[in-house]
Amino acid sequence: MSSATDVGRRVDELRRRLDYHGHRYYVLDEPEISDPEYDALLNELRDLETEHPELRTPDSPTQRVGGQPLDKFEEVPHLQPMLSLANARNEEELAAWVVRSERHLARQGVKMGDVHFVTEPKIDGLAISLVYEDGVLVRGATRGNGEVGEEVTQNLRTIGAIPLKVDGAPPLLEVRGEIYMPLAAFARLNEQRAAAGEPTFMNPRNSAAGSIRQLDPALAASRPLSMWCYGIGAVEGLEFETHFEWLEWLRERGFRVNPDVAVYDTVDEVVAACHGWQERRDRLDYEIDGVVVKVNDLDLQRQLGVVGREPRGAIAWKFPPTTATTALKDVAWNVGRTGHMVPFAVLEPVQVSGVIVKLATLHNEEDLRRKDVRPGDEVIVMRAGDVIPQVVSPTPKAQKSKKRNPPPSPPTHCPACSTPTVKPEGSVWTICPNRAGCPGQVFQAVKHFVGALDIDGLGEENVRRFLAEDLIKDSADLYTLSTDRLSQLDGFGEVSAGNVIASLEASKDQPFERVLYGLGIPGVGYVNARNLARHLRSMEALLDATEDDLVEVEGIGPIMARTIAETLAEDRTQDLIQRLEQHGLRMRAEGPAAPAEGPLVGKTLVLTGTLPNLTREDATARVEAAGGKVTGSVSKKTDYVVAGADPGSKLTKAQELGTEVLDEEGLLALLG
Ligand code: IVH
Repeated sequence: MSSATDVGRRVDELRRRLDYHGHRYYVLDEPEISDPEYDALLNELRDLETEHPELRTPDSPTQRVGGQPLDKFEEVPHLQPMLSLANARNEEELAAWVVRSERHLARQGVKMGDVHFVTEPKIDGLAISLVYEDGVLVRGATRGNGEVGEEVTQNLRTIGAIPLKVDGAPPLLEVRGEIYMPLAAFARLNEQRAAAGEPTFMNPRNSAAGSIRQLDPALAASRPLSMWCYGIGAVEGLEFETHFEWLEWLRERGFRVNPDVAVYDTVDEVVAACHGWQERRDRLDYEIDGVVVKVNDLDLQRQLGVVGREPRGAIAWKFPPTTATTALKDVAWNVGRTGHMVPFAVLEPVQVSGVIVKLATLHNEEDLRRKDVRPGDEVIVMRAGDVIPQVVSPTPKAQKSKKRNPPPSPPTHCPACSTPTVKPEGSVWTICPNRAGCPGQVFQAVKHFVGALDIDGLGEENVRRFLAEDLIKDSADLYTLSTDRLSQLDGFGEVSAGNVIASLEASKDQPFERVLYGLGIPGVGYVNARNLARHLRSMEALLDATEDDLVEVEGIGPIMARTIAETLAEDRTQDLIQRLEQHGLRMRAEGPAAPAEGPLVGKTLVLTGTLPNLTREDATARVEAAGGKVTGSVSKKTDYVVAGADPGSKLTKAQELGTEVLDEEGLLALLG
């Protein structure tokens, strides 16, 4: 760049564009450019600031990454105390508060109809205060004891939803709100932590609070946090008559204010709005534990005053909890597809947000060990939306109890076939070694095959039934079924039987990689199956391949190569393959090898998690059509990781290696 003025102009321009796009992404959730495009702008600005440190300012978008780790947090007094809210436990108490507020004001000459109420979601997160001086964020603090909080400015700066500067702000402005972790991001984070052997967070609130209280801002920056703003504290140089006007002003100035905040005039409307939030609660991407109702007129709020630490002008209507406490009657076990013992909780039935829960998942042996739940314990059970209920932990009381049962051990015999279980050397899993003869494993294997080959209309219950009635013994036997045979079964008509048979016929056109995936070789998920199919191109070649040959394939390491070779060498695998071939399933890759031209030639991508629109297979096909390669694991050779919801450890690995991470939109942008 030619002159210092040019550099200055470019820096301003980049900051303006980054602020604009950051706001669209983090606040409005409506990005206009892809992540790589945003990163390119940010990198350019970062480079210019490195070359010209004198141009660096605290409100620059580059300053979001955080500075040096701290030894401890400084305590800061709040400009105005951060108060708490009185609670209403039910609608009667809420209605009583509305009436009480109106009466109180009536005594001061305010007419009943002149009192209006704002309803807002009560976000289950961490309250914070943001102080802006002349529009620049100078300090952010936790609530602390309400009078004094901890200064966490560095960490708050890393949150994209928090503006670092505010155009047209008064000389002093304190914005208050709640920091939270979106539910999908929370699930992803916990999955990554579990995969890395780190302790998982109990709930999104704890993980948001834990992230804000990190002394190392780089760690806080890696946590996906956001913020809803719900009010102001100290302010100089700007005034509004109502709370709602403030919220609208904040929104216009780039703060995240919930779009469904609304003003109502009557008790009935307020109560209806609260029920509306309760009904929608499970569909939100953030946890709310109630609704906050506030008197809209700020003058009236002041007239109502404060009792103790609670303003009379606001109240929190709390929802019944989504967690419940109950007795853990027993820990029971199932067997998974590859023989792993899978624990689940048998509970004293308990109601959790309106549903009776009797069974809850405990995920796997490690999860059980980590949570240390024991039969007889009083446990916390959680249900979020339509997710399978899970046991969170024993209650603190149970943890302290002197009379606890010992931790449950995995069964000595397989729950499905009674074969003695084994724990292979070096493994953390207990398995049933009866791979071929265990009905539990066979069921899971057929279920997997049906999913892999996309056989519609053949649900889990049918698979269970066909096995129980000896119609099939394994996946290949599915192709011996006939419409006649099926229509003799209870509950199957000509039509439904015909549909199942048609789906089975259609599955014969599925590509070789799907067949390979459907075999359920341990460690061979869809992507590895695809790579094996692309590299070796036929079942024959695969069966002939040595471990050394297998290691040549993208994504296959020596341990996996050994498992694949051993599984393929088993008689029953060979028998299964042979029968699948006889039934007409594809045993070789079709079509030409990868194209020599396209935007992704020479690029290696890893897909992880669920993308919003594309299936794993669609995304793979598109990448390959563009000349790129999709592999199953992240390494130094990986050019991009495409991450959807619940991405797991591959995303962590990408972050460790500094691999560029894209979302679906970023991928589509690359594909042109
Ligand atoms: S108003 C005077 N509005 O609830 C009360 N608080 O018990 C000032 N909270 O510490 C807070 N959502 O952490 C307010 N829409 C909302 C809220 C909200 C969540 C939390 C906040 C506060 C606690 C009050």
